[in-house]
Amino acid sequence: MRVPIIAGNWKMNTNIPEALALVDGMLSPLDGIKGVEKVLCPPFVSLQAVGDKIAGTSVRLGAQNMYFQERGAYTGEISPVMLAGLCHYVILGHSERRQHFGETDELVNRKVQAAVSHKLVPIICVGESLAQNEEGLTNSVVRLQVKAALQGLSPDDVKNVVFAYEPIWAIGTGKAATGQGANAVIGLIRATVAGLYDRQTAQGLRIQYGGSVTATNIAEFIRQPEIDGALVGGASLKAEEFLRIVEQTAQIKGAGTVSR
Ligand code: 13P
Repeated sequence: MRVPIIAGNWKMNTNIPEALALVDGMLSPLDGIKGVEKVLCPPFVSLQAVGDKIAGTSVRLGAQNMYFQERGAYTGEISPVMLAGLCHYVILGHSERRQHFGETDELVNRKVQAAVSHKLVPIICVGESLAQNEEGLTNSVVRLQVKAALQGLSPDDVKNVVFAYEPIWAIGTGKAATGQGANAVIGLIRATVAGLYDRQTAQGLRIQYGGSVTATNIAEFIRQPEIDGALVGGASLKAEEFLRIVEQTAQIKGAGTVSR
C-alpha cells in the first residue's frame, strides 16, 4: 500500500520569522495526524530553522530546488551535498523553474540523478501547459517528461522517487483539474513507469496532484485510486487550511487517525 504524501510548497514566500510562525501554527496537530506523510518545503534560507523546529516530529522537510553539481563555481546555487542531511525531499522540475528559469528535461534529469545519488527523495513535477492541453497533447507531453526525468535510474532508484502531476494551467489560477481528469493522467504516468521498468515498481510509485488544491477540493482528488497525495502551493501558506487538507487525506485514504 502506498502511504499518501501531502507536501506544502511555500514557493518564494516567508522570511525566517514568518516561516517559523507558520510552522508554530500547525506543528502540534500536524504531527498528530497518522497515516499520511507530511512535508514542508520552505525557501532555502529557512530550511535550517524550520528543520530545527520540526526535529523529533513526524513532519519532514523538503527543498524547492537544487543544482546537480556537488560544489564549485556556480554562484547562487545550492548543491545536493548541502541539502543531504538537512532535508529529506527536494522538489525538482517545477513548472515555474521550467518557465522562468529555463530548466529543460535534460537538466531536470541531471538533478534527479544527483538527488537520488545523495539519498534525497526528488518530487519530480510534470505537467502540460494550457495550449498543450487544448491541443490534446497532455498525454504525450507528460509521457515524454516522465521518460526524460527517469533516464539512467535503476528500478531501485525509482523506489525513492515521488512524482507530482501539476498541469500548468491549474497552478495558482484557482482552476483545479477535475479529480477524474487528474486521475487519468496520473494513471498514465504509472503506466509509463510500468513500461519503462515493471508493474511492481509502478504500483509502488507515489504520484501527487498539484494545482489549486484547497481544503474544499482535496477530497475530490484523494478519493481517486491513482492519486497518492497533493503538492500544495497557496493553501499551504495557511496553517489551518493545510491541516484540513492533511486531515481529510488521512480520513479518506483510510490508514489515518486524526488526533484533534
Ligand atoms: P497552487 O496550489 O498555489 O496552485 O500551486 C501549486 C503548485 O505549484 C505546487 O507546487
